[in-house]
Amino acid sequence: MKENDYDKLLARKLSPLRYRHSRGVASYAAQLALKYNIEVNKARLAGLLHDYARDLPEGELLTLAEEAGLISCEVERKLPLLLHGPVGAYLVQKDLNVNDGEILQAISRHTVGAPDMTLLDKIIYLADALEPGRVYPGVDVLRRLAEEDLDKALLKALESSISYVLARGQLLHPATVEARNCLLMKRDNS
Ligand SMILES: [Fe+2]
Ligand SMILES: [Fe+2]
Repeated sequence: MKENDYDKLLARKLSPLRYRHSRGVASYAAQLALKYNIEVNKARLAGLLHDYARDLPEGELLTLAEEAGLISCEVERKLPLLLHGPVGAYLVQKDLNVNDGEILQAISRHTVGAPDMTLLDKIIYLADALEPGRVYPGVDVLRRLAEEDLDKALLKALESSISYVLARGQLLHPATVEARNCLLMKRDNS
């Protein structure tokens, strides 16, 4: 399938807002890929497809995740929306025949992060938070940081996600903590 076909398919499948967001993530991911010397087309496609499962009802996300053996911790049963990354990767492979493991992993990891994220994982996670449609305090500082130092930007993005969850008294997914710890340990060892 060509990128144009994926685009048309998403325009039908996603809500108009989510479709616009997905296009924004695709173009922002392409921009970062160019900057950090990874395959631009790969980053654009991962960005375009990252929220493929985001508009599915929570019950369906949970059922699909259970069927495919994608549940990694109990927090996900309480907050099935967190599963739209792994379920998205699963469906993109099953329905759209996307078999590139790097793209599938970046889609899977974009919601809560993971330890040892690849460059593509990091770019999709950040593009999701920084695409032009995102408006929140500090987004411009983060965008500048992403141009200068991807790891520093990712650390800040993970920390603001953790602060957001804590401020609301919600369950925190352990992968987000692991992603942050992993970045800190790598930074301190280099
Ligand atoms: Fe998402
Ligand atoms: Fe997203």
